[in-house]
Amino acid sequence: VATVTVNPATLGFTAVPKNLLDVVSVPAGYTVQVINRVGDPIAANVPAYKNDGTDTNFAQRIGDQHDALQWFGLSSTGTRDANSSTRGLIVQNHENIVQENLHPAGTSFGGVRPEADALKEIEAHGVSITEVTEGANRTWTTVQGSSFNRRLTPNTPMVFNGPARGSDLLKTAYSPLGTSGRGTINNCANGVTPWGSALTCEENWAGYFRRFADGTRTAKELASLSRYGISDRANGNYGWSTVVPSDPADTRFRRWDARATGSSATTDFRNEPNQFGWVVEFDPYTPNSVPRKRTTLGRLGHEGAWPGRFQAGKKPAWYTGDDSGGEHLYKFVSATAWVEADANATDRLAMGDKYLDTGTLYVAKFNADGTGAWLPLVYGQNGIDSTYAAYPFADQADVLINARLAATVVGATPMDRPEWTAVNPQTGEVYLTLTNNGGRALANTDAANPRSYTDPRVDSARSSSGNANGHVIRLREDGDTTEATTFKWDIYLFGAGSDLDPANINVSGLTADQDFSSPDGLWFARNTNPSGQVKPLLWLQTDDGAYTDVTNCMMLAAIPGTVGDGGARTITNTAANGATAAQATRVGAAPTAATLKRFLVGPVGCEITGVDSTPDGRTLFVGIQHPDGHWPDSQATGTATARPRSATVVITKNDGGVVGL
Ligand code: FEO
Ligand code: CA
Ligand code: CA
Ligand code: CA
Repeated sequence: VATVTVNPATLGFTAVPKNLLDVVSVPAGYTVQVINRVGDPIAANVPAYKNDGTDTNFAQRIGDQHDALQWFGLSSTGTRDANSSTRGLIVQNHENIVQENLHPAGTSFGGVRPEADALKEIEAHGVSITEVTEGANRTWTTVQGSSFNRRLTPNTPMVFNGPARGSDLLKTAYSPLGTSGRGTINNCANGVTPWGSALTCEENWAGYFRRFADGTRTAKELASLSRYGISDRANGNYGWSTVVPSDPADTRFRRWDARATGSSATTDFRNEPNQFGWVVEFDPYTPNSVPRKRTTLGRLGHEGAWPGRFQAGKKPAWYTGDDSGGEHLYKFVSATAWVEADANATDRLAMGDKYLDTGTLYVAKFNADGTGAWLPLVYGQNGIDSTYAAYPFADQADVLINARLAATVVGATPMDRPEWTAVNPQTGEVYLTLTNNGGRALANTDAANPRSYTDPRVDSARSSSGNANGHVIRLREDGDTTEATTFKWDIYLFGAGSDLDPANINVSGLTADQDFSSPDGLWFARNTNPSGQVKPLLWLQTDDGAYTDVTNCMMLAAIPGTVGDGGARTITNTAANGATAAQATRVGAAPTAATLKRFLVGPVGCEITGVDSTPDGRTLFVGIQHPDGHWPDSQATGTATARPRSATVVITKNDGGVVGL
């Protein structure tokens, strides 16, 4: 193992130019390998993927639309080894599907869906757990047939834990007691625990449900359905509820019809939407373990759930964004102070019960003066009770199942689509990507969401003004503790083309080597690599619709400063009709060529999603989601003819050093 000494850390690579090539571009001196393409078999005896739409059995193949990923080290004897950098498990979310690529050309997606087609689409969602190893010449291979390999799909049995377990709102035909459920879906970003379990987060689950011509709902139920985006519509995303199953008792398809058609929640599927929107904990090292939905973290459009620093004797916290326009940032604080020896527990889900089943969910309020507060979402406090006319809460389970509504009661700040959170391992500062918000009108900017403007290159699908390029906000807990109920904040970076107005749009002064739009994935490099770095490396990924005429989506590396290293700033916003308005905000120090650089540009049509490294920092894993050219077959030459496939790339530095430094 090569040892490099870089102290303090510097970005030791040449910036990758923006481009529209159908390849993953990385700096000179780096190598890209591709593993875990959608459809690759993970169980023994499953045939190779033909990629012509005829393949079946996705419960034993890599799923589609790769999102967050995480490395879990394995020892040579196959036990958990958090320090291993040569053998491990890749846990990866499969957020969604590219429907047409899963079927033969000419397949109809309307009307009554064939059972096998719908089952394939359902099983291509969820999570994959695969064993990977490093071989000679730094070649990485997935071990087909490893006993660790597993898929979690929307059909995998799971249980509910925490205060909402057994709630009337979780009672279904599948679980009349409201204690268990089926599966996980639209798994976007993730989280970790120090005891070696994984957290996967359910984001845009609402769209899969049909709800139509439903006249039996109460006003309270309608308020919940409306806030969570389960609109009155004839069909869900892929029409799964139209399937007429070969086994009439099979409810795996009808469950996606959320109409209230029976006499109770256990005779129809009205509560199926309440099954989703959770943070799910599972143990990747124990393939037959049953995942647990941790209801303490609330039901949202959870992007991720990233922990703050673990400090002995302090209650740990997880930060979680709710990615929808005008939704919020949340923090869950455990009721249980951290005991460092628990990191070595072998019953990992019991540790989850200890730290994740009791505690307090808070939501963030950002004040104009650069301070902020965490507001508790507790039944009976601050107006969260049965007297709230828009949604009379029944109990704490109801508060957690309808956390968005409770957040409104206490006055949480509506944000420009909260995506990933990341925590600086040295300062504990929390970074949050706010990807964009076409709905941020001139009249409702605020200090934490200060921009509303017309980006000349926004395509016609976007509104003509708003925050088209997004920003990255960060906060520092008062007292540097996860238990804090107040914080300081500033805006670390504003997304923008380098050619745009430097006063009011390109507020961070991004250069051509740095400019980006729609930040999404965000991750601080592990603090364990042999570089001895004193300033951690931040990786930033994009999911962009506003800049894709200029460049494919990308990943940048950064060495950020700290909250308050910049100062106050006033931005002049301009609406499409020419009206202007000033908005004061708090801005971090502008990046320099030494502190922000583009490291990677993805292939045509993709977003860049998911990043982790081996503990030694020498191997970086990155997710490539929904490419729509011919990647990865095009990786070597830039052209190909095969159907595109979401996949994971493995990036290594040819000199054996730490990636990025
Ligand atoms: Fe699945 Fe908000 O990205
Ligand atoms: Ca996505
Ligand atoms: Ca995302
Ligand atoms: Ca996104």
